[in-house]
Amino acid sequence: MKLIAPSLLAADFLNLGEACKFINESSADWLHLDVMDGTFVPNISFGFPVMESIAPVCCKPLDVHLMIVHPEKYAERFCQAGAYSVGFHLEAVDDPEPILSVIRKQGVHTCLTINPDIDVERLRPHVGKVDMILLMSVFAGYGGQKFIEATYDRIAQLRRIMDEEGFHPLLEIDGGVNASNAPALFDAGADVLVAGTAVFRAENPDEVIRTMKA
Ligand code: DX5
Ligand code: ZN
Repeated sequence: MKLIAPSLLAADFLNLGEACKFINESSADWLHLDVMDGTFVPNISFGFPVMESIAPVCCKPLDVHLMIVHPEKYAERFCQAGAYSVGFHLEAVDDPEPILSVIRKQGVHTCLTINPDIDVERLRPHVGKVDMILLMSVFAGYGGQKFIEATYDRIAQLRRIMDEEGFHPLLEIDGGVNASNAPALFDAGADVLVAGTAVFRAENPDEVIRTMKA
C-alpha cells in the first residue's frame, strides 16, 4: 500500500478550514493529527477542540498520533471525536493492551508507535495485536526536523520481526519525509508516509503528494 498522510501540524493554523478543503480535494489519503501535551514531548500542539472542528468537514480518514502521557485517559474521546486510527507511544505506557482494547471496542484502528531511540524488538509482542505500527523517523515533538537515516535499518528489523511472528500490520513512517526519500521508504516496505513540512509548506502541495506516491 502507498498512502500519504499530510500532517496538519505544518498547516496554516489561521486557516484550518482551507487546509481541510485542500485535503479533501487533494490526492492525500489520510490526514495526520499530532497531539502533543508538553510532557511526553517538550511541545504543545492541539487537542479536542481542533479535532472536533475538523472531523465534520474532513472527508479523509483522521490518523491521530498521541504524543502524550496517560493515553489511557484520552484515547476513547479521540475515537469518539471521529478518529479513523488512534496511535500512542509504547514508551509512554506500562501495558498498551488495555488502551488498544478501548480503541478496538470503539471500532477504531489501533496503532502503536516508538521513538527512534526505542528498541524495535520491544514491538515484537504487539505486532499481532495492532492494525498499524508507526516508526518515528525523527524524535517526536516538532515538525520540520531532519529524517534519521537509521530508520531504514529499523524498518528492515521490524519487517523481520513481523515475518517471524506471522503478522503484518500496516507500517507508517513519520518525520522528515519528503519527495526525495518517499520512494526508498515505500521500497523498504512502508505503507503510510506522514509528511508535514514537505506538503503544507510546498508551493504546489498536491503535486508533492502525487510525486511521493508515484
Ligand atoms: C513529529 C510529528 C510529525 C510531524 C511531521 O512529532 O509526529 O507527524 O508533524 O512533520 P514533518 O513532516 O515536517 O517532519
Ligand atoms: Zn506524527
